[in-house]
Amino acid sequence: MSVTQQQVLDCLARVRSPRGVALTEANVLSDITVNDGKVFFSINVDAQEARAWESVRAEAESAVRAIPGVTAAMIALTAERKAGGAPPPPRPAGGVKPVSAHRHPTQPPGGSPMSRQAEIPGVGAIIAVASGKGGVGKSTTALNLALGLRDLGLKVGLLDADIYGPSVPRLTGIREKPELTEDRKMIPIPRFGLSVMSIGFLVEEDTAMIWRGPMVMSAITQMLRDVVWGTLDVLVVDMPPGTGDAQLTLAQNVPLKGAIIISTPQDLSLIDARRGLAMFRKVNVPVLGIVENMSYFQCPHCGTKSDIFGHGGARHEAERLGVPFLGEVPLHMAIRVSSDAGNPVVVSEPDGPHAAIYRAIGAKVRDQLKGVIAAA
Ligand SMILES: Nc1ncnc2c1ncn2[C@@H]1O[C@H](COP(=O)(O)OP(=O)(O)O)[C@@H](O)[C@H]1O
Ligand SMILES: [Mg+2]
Repeated sequence: MSVTQQQVLDCLARVRSPRGVALTEANVLSDITVNDGKVFFSINVDAQEARAWESVRAEAESAVRAIPGVTAAMIALTAERKAGGAPPPPRPAGGVKPVSAHRHPTQPPGGSPMSRQAEIPGVGAIIAVASGKGGVGKSTTALNLALGLRDLGLKVGLLDADIYGPSVPRLTGIREKPELTEDRKMIPIPRFGLSVMSIGFLVEEDTAMIWRGPMVMSAITQMLRDVVWGTLDVLVVDMPPGTGDAQLTLAQNVPLKGAIIISTPQDLSLIDARRGLAMFRKVNVPVLGIVENMSYFQCPHCGTKSDIFGHGGARHEAERLGVPFLGEVPLHMAIRVSSDAGNPVVVSEPDGPHAAIYRAIGAKVRDQLKGVIAAA
């Protein structure tokens, strides 16, 4: 049974705005995307009223999820501060620069930044895998690192928060959608012993979605908190690439215990990596270290190594910046082919050299989380 946009609208007409009018009459709805049982839209309100709207958002989402045939619904609350509105809230302690107030739709006025950073019950440590730009192998590393941590005996989850290009469905070969619990929380999909959740399960990978700052945060908050993660030692978050406002907001809002920066050895990429480092420092998230990906080229036929990108740049940079260097991953066919086939190299060649590298990186990460997670 396929769900229609009209069914969604009919359902939303029964939800009331804080002022009592039907949601469909309140002039706040974005376009509604209905795709194969998945419903996605945003409610756009003035920042001053955002708090009053949060329960309406939740109610609308429950109502949409209850429509027969709806397999997933994601409704983002986006709040825009109108020109000439109230000044932004005071800077939080620690010299953290606020990313203009309108990017925090759910933040209570004057509330402590910690309230947005409430821990996820049952989850030991949330760590971000980040990169200054796309295409450096962030997702490949995030997944294989998660698997490396799994091999060390930890219970691991993977959250693909890269709203600009969710690639975890492809990298894991997961085609199904998450099921819902009775109270309508999403159940992560088990794969390779990991609990996996991706924004790509809810929107198509190739759907051109234009995400604005507040929408990003709202979507990610739901991916974190409306999911039954169960008990995890570590939740690895594949972050959106870059160091713009959306990424900074995310780093500020997710209760991160640390961040790992992925860089290729090229200078240009290192500049981006430095920006990533600066971003996490700004929001007081410890940088657990840098991984140099595509560090050197290893010929799949003869095994010869060549430093086509000037290998070692990230190691020097890490030393210079005083952050741990976590390891070098070669540019190797097996890594690309296995990733693209949905069968990551740590799973497809568990006894091979690449799996060993990812496990070694995992061990360094685990050691840094000692005292934070019980199993470390
Ligand atoms: N070490 C590596 N060796 C070979 N190919 C790699 C390696 N790391 C990543 N890739 C490939 O590079 C492409 C981009 O990697 P991906 O992890 O999707 O990057 P990002 O998440 O940073 O955009 C993918 O096709 C992936 O298979
Ligand atoms: Mg990616």
